Amino acid sequence: MSDERLSAIGWNTRYLVQDTGWDKGHCAPPLARLLAEGVVPKGSHLAIVGAGRGHEAFEAVRQGYRVTAIDFAPEAVRAMNAGIRATGLAFEALEADVFTLHHTHARAFDAVLEHTCYCAIDPTTRDRYVTAIEGALKPGGLLFGLFYNHGRPGGPPFDTTEADVRARFSRFDFERFVRAADSFPGRTGEEWEAVLRLRE
Ligand SMILES: C[S@@+](CC[C@H](N)C(=O)[O-])C[C@H]1O[C@@H](n2cnc3c(N)ncnc32)[C@H](O)[C@@H]1O
Repeated sequence: MSDERLSAIGWNTRYLVQDTGWDKGHCAPPLARLLAEGVVPKGSHLAIVGAGRGHEAFEAVRQGYRVTAIDFAPEAVRAMNAGIRATGLAFEALEADVFTLHHTHARAFDAVLEHTCYCAIDPTTRDRYVTAIEGALKPGGLLFGLFYNHGRPGGPPFDTTEADVRARFSRFDFERFVRAADSFPGRTGEEWEAVLRLRE
């Protein structure tokens, strides 16, 4: 039976009632660092999946990247568009389901940024997520970001182990897979910092 909480309506309701405890109000420090480090060259086109209110998208634009930020909750997209108007930082805020990306954006992106999207979907759909990301990346493209490995039952956020990521992303070379050293308080020691390159 599908879990209503994980549908677009379910997530949208959480935005409407401000039940958004995952949102720390700014870009996660490890992601700002990875962007600054230039794991992908500045000017590259990034897809940010499950982008929420767009904190990572605004940071990426500030740092010189082109961004398509994807979320299927209309309230999240509305918040991103409000932020775009308020800041003048321009990117595409797209209301779409991440599972359709390989059809709508086949081989379109230099990189995909993952932050609390993989842990937000039903774990039984993770292989579909991988298919969508693989299909949306250019050959040799990067998937980079954070995987949440908190070790607790239930979700969202659903736990993600190193073994799970390594098994599912088997078409990628793991250029980095380490514990993030500068996670948000409360997530310290619970996030894998990942830089994965799709083999050509
Ligand atoms: C835990 S929130 C994280 C939001 C943002 N990454 C952040 O850290 O603030 C998960 C987000 O993923 C979105 N989401 C979940 N499943 C999705 C799907 N299949 N397609 C697009 N967005 C999805 C939800 O609407 C929600 O905004």
